[in-house]
Amino acid sequence: MERKKVLILHGPNLNLTGFREPELYGRKPLAEIDEDIGTAADEFGFEVRILQSNHEGVLIDTIQEHRKWADAIVVNPGALTHYSYALRDALASVRLPIIEVHMSNVMAREEFRHQSVVAPVCVGTITGFGSHSYILALQALKSREVGSL
Ligand code: DQA
Repeated sequence: MERKKVLILHGPNLNLTGFREPELYGRKPLAEIDEDIGTAADEFGFEVRILQSNHEGVLIDTIQEHRKWADAIVVNPGALTHYSYALRDALASVRLPIIEVHMSNVMAREEFRHQSVVAPVCVGTITGFGSHSYILALQALKSREVGSL
């Protein structure tokens, strides 16, 4: 049986995960988080492609390029979460199940982080479980309640 395909996107500054504000984002470097995501994806029977970019346009291009490839998207948009209508429109345009992920609990932080402009085009949001948030997102995609993966 063909494996379902999931595009995983990390937004601006997430390349510094493990080093920047470890009290918020943990000490695990992004490369290790990506390995964990790969292991979980294998377990769940998903094929994943993972990309980190500091550039809004690159994230948007990647979403558009994967429009036909992907069966679902897991996205941690970083600070773009709070203001990027362009990213939101790109996510809305692909008509795929999308899960928004944050490592920190954005609702327990500054007021400006309480707003997500991408949340309305996502199936749901997972926030506050460190790098495990990504694994929970894959688990959610595996459940039959989310899309048909
Ligand atoms: C983040 C939360 C955002 O508010 C912040 O700008 C980030 C990381 C998270 O994973 O907790 O860069 O998306």
